[in-house]
Amino acid sequence: MTPHVVVTLPLPASVLDELGRSYRLSAWSETGPMPDTTLQSWAADADAILCSLGTPITATLLANSPRLQTISSISVGVDHIDLGAATRAGLPVGHTPDVLVDSTADMAVALMLSVMRRIVEADRFVRAGEWGQGWSTDFFLGTDLSRATVGIVGLGPIGRAVAARVGSFGARVIGWNRTVREVPGVCAVDLDDLFAEADVISVHTAATAETRHLVNRDRIGRMKPGAVLVNTARGSVVDETALVDALAAGKIRAGLDVYEQEPLPQDSPLLGLDNVVLVPHLGSATAATRQAMMERASINLASGLRGERLPWCANPEVYGPG
Ligand code: DGY
Repeated sequence: MTPHVVVTLPLPASVLDELGRSYRLSAWSETGPMPDTTLQSWAADADAILCSLGTPITATLLANSPRLQTISSISVGVDHIDLGAATRAGLPVGHTPDVLVDSTADMAVALMLSVMRRIVEADRFVRAGEWGQGWSTDFFLGTDLSRATVGIVGLGPIGRAVAARVGSFGARVIGWNRTVREVPGVCAVDLDDLFAEADVISVHTAATAETRHLVNRDRIGRMKPGAVLVNTARGSVVDETALVDALAAGKIRAGLDVYEQEPLPQDSPLLGLDNVVLVPHLGSATAATRQAMMERASINLASGLRGERLPWCANPEVYGPG
């Protein structure tokens, strides 16, 4: 029988056509998130789910979807999936590591530079027709990445790629990782010291129960006046209320790609602050990277439906030891 695959997000027609050659698809095509009730009813007789961020894959959904053989996510992060429940149910979960490292690292550096050189603020100034004065020595002054100490929180592939990039700008790089990791060019420091010493802090830890609000009020309070916090990892890693308070008080600056709630609510206090650059979760958003992510997710999906080991599996323990 042709496997039934639920697709929880709009995908390019070419990708859906390709998938439709091998599977019976139930595909969500609207831009808003797929309602849980729709997902529950489609998944009830599904053999696989192809998903991404924004559609929670809960323990209840898994319990009510007895035919599921695999879940494949078009993302490296899998915090939208109850990984523990999937593993207990014997379901391999596919994800897409490696291919988005460079794009996400580029976005982190772009946010740093946008904040430090006031690019977005200056763009708004020019468009508002406010540029009336001549060149002067104190006009729109920023800060230099080459003179900064950059603190990397989480020295996985993306954190290391950011370290290499800012190192090549001439920055001094310090870093912290939960399990101690030696990275050439990165001076390992305690996490609290990193917050106190760095001029720029870039967050690259995965979202787990342990990393929730790792960047808490106390650590934000340790940051130097005018220091910059960049988050391209997950919103839950930063206590957003504490961050808003520090930004509103003008103590620090920030560049954010991710938020505790996405899409960012229209009444978020972040929207009224000038010392933060906001982008809508675009870390991996280049055409080539998204293509590579979809390819990996399709390969994971096919492998899971054939009963083979997923090449990029987020819960390899599902296969048992060895
Ligand atoms: C991921 O893949 O987890 C990224 O956050 C998507 O940009």
